[in-house]
Amino acid sequence: MHLHWPNGLTTQQFLDEYWQKKPLLIQNALPGFETPVTPDELAGMSLEEGTTPRIITQDASGDYQLEHGPFAEDRYTTIGDKDWSLLITDCEKHWPELMDWIEPFRFLPRWRMDDLMISFAPDKASVGAHIDEYDVFLLQASGTRRWQIDASTNPDVTIVENSTLRLLANFKATDTWELNPGDVLYLPPGVPHHGVAVGNDCTTWSIGFRAPSNLDVLDVFSEILLDNLPLQRFQDPALSANNGAQVKPEALAQLRTLWQQTTQLSDEELIRLSGFLLTRGGIGVDDENSPAPQWQGEPLLWHSFAQVAYVLQGESAELFVNGDAYHCSSSFAKAVADSNTFTINNDELSDIDRPILTKLLQTGALTFVDSID
Ligand code: SIN
Ligand code: CO
Repeated sequence: MHLHWPNGLTTQQFLDEYWQKKPLLIQNALPGFETPVTPDELAGMSLEEGTTPRIITQDASGDYQLEHGPFAEDRYTTIGDKDWSLLITDCEKHWPELMDWIEPFRFLPRWRMDDLMISFAPDKASVGAHIDEYDVFLLQASGTRRWQIDASTNPDVTIVENSTLRLLANFKATDTWELNPGDVLYLPPGVPHHGVAVGNDCTTWSIGFRAPSNLDVLDVFSEILLDNLPLQRFQDPALSANNGAQVKPEALAQLRTLWQQTTQLSDEELIRLSGFLLTRGGIGVDDENSPAPQWQGEPLLWHSFAQVAYVLQGESAELFVNGDAYHCSSSFAKAVADSNTFTINNDELSDIDRPILTKLLQTGALTFVDSID
């Protein structure tokens, strides 16, 4: 399964011309798409423990309210038939059978993938005009949604005062489209958009991507570096007279040097910290000390909550799984981490790679394909 690009566009042309740059409407991107999740099933999913659903309602004055789930069943007996939306994040993790639908988006780096969010809205309902910080592919899964976007160069992104939902105060559409099942709208970060359900069976899938911020980098890198920081201190053996309270340029320069030296990273450190940063959100499952399941070459599958990335270094690689690093061969890293399910030949595994596979099975990061129904 892959995306059908419009007008003979290739995947590389999409990346060159649109990815992170400008919106693209991809009509009939997944021809014949039929949703495997009905609105009723979605409501049922929002009752399940451990899920992160939200209901957004709009009152008579047009104000939006946000409720966090999981919800009690009777929430739907009083909700009425208009002016609300249900949105559930991380659907592919809680219901791994949905993972197959992520496949058309695997041309993007695995570690950029965030989640599949599914929303339902009755006729005319919406969550209001807003911007998102991340790239998103909006796939119409059932029914119809009218999307309006502001594709202008400098859109007005003033936020409605005191709104928890951070809605846009002055949204003005430059484009309006009606999306039907199988249609996809790609939006880069920061494009104002507003989607309104048309009819009563509108479900929309958001395949969202993540990107670390400088705050994440500083936060994570500094926390790890602090654990092993060789202490250096400001020194002024060439002090000149007449100081008072002044911080002289040479003192400032030395503080800058102290900062730069402290944050300097070797290639190995950069790889280790980046791998941790990009996969730390993954969740391990089983007890690390539990016995590894017997594996004899059966097809394997990543746990749906696992986060996986690798860095190649010639013939070897650093594989990162849920924040942990494993030094392995580059062929092993590619074979196990480039796809969500894979088959690998037991006899071809080297003595370096085999214990890693055993460990990943033991922690539950990897499971047998057949164990998931
Ligand atoms: C929705 O599905 O209702 C909203 C998705 C979005 O605008 O990001
Ligand atoms: Co959005």
